[in-house]
Amino acid sequence: MLDKMPPDKALSDKKITVPVICEKKTKEEKITVLTAYDYPFAKLIDEAGIDIILVGDSLGIVVQGEESTLPVTMDQMVYHCQMVSRAVKRALVVGDMPFMSYQVSLEETLKNAGRLIKEGKAEAVKFEGGARVADRIEALTRHDIPVMAHIGLTPQSVHRMGGYKVQGRLLEEATQLLNDAKTIESAGAFSLVLEGIPNLLAKEISETINIPTIGIGAGPDCDGQVLVMHDLLGLFTGFQPKFVRRYAELSTTAADAFRRYRLDVMAGKFPIEEEGYQ
Ligand code: KIV
Repeated sequence: MLDKMPPDKALSDKKITVPVICEKKTKEEKITVLTAYDYPFAKLIDEAGIDIILVGDSLGIVVQGEESTLPVTMDQMVYHCQMVSRAVKRALVVGDMPFMSYQVSLEETLKNAGRLIKEGKAEAVKFEGGARVADRIEALTRHDIPVMAHIGLTPQSVHRMGGYKVQGRLLEEATQLLNDAKTIESAGAFSLVLEGIPNLLAKEISETINIPTIGIGAGPDCDGQVLVMHDLLGLFTGFQPKFVRRYAELSTTAADAFRRYRLDVMAGKFPIEEEGYQ
């Protein structure tokens, strides 16, 4: 397996910043993004050379065991951003704004985004929505808080959408998403997540706007790709959307380790003399 892997391009230690991410689109270099929620995994992801670590509110589902991302709180996001930021040396850390942390008012949006930067040590924030959040994007950008926007299948809109459904299949919806993308760019966002939309629409948006698009379930033509770490590692087995590629089966590995440990203890095979102190 290892023989078949292409040689890794020597990883530069250069810190990934917002301008570096934007430059990658100009240079036609793909942008790699993964989610992380804690110190050990953030460290591994950073050392693997991933460009952006997103502390996503997906943690509500894959870490907290909730059915949606809606219950996640600001305090929890700050806490997870802190763990991730402590581990990261190279990647850009983006903190996700949870449901109702940016919907109420501009003032609340600024205060909450400020907490992710000040207390969580994130370097940018992300939130969901198109033209309707353009004033939030403008306000944060004006106060030097870089914004990654997010449109398409936006998980915080699960009740409006009636489930996690692909968006933008109808001409009217696709036109709206394209307009949203343009408005988001004009408002000053530095990048845009496109989730759960048809490949062709993602291609068109990516070719139309000048800021990088980061796809998830949006096909191969986005400027970068993001996956939820637990999906990629096979750690979350609740359901597997079509767009997930599993690069490991850690649930199976972990379950096997726990089982073997239990059997060893029960059989008196762990610990052995050498695993204790004299
Ligand atoms: O919360 C999250 O992890 C996300 C990504 C899937 C884009 O929003």
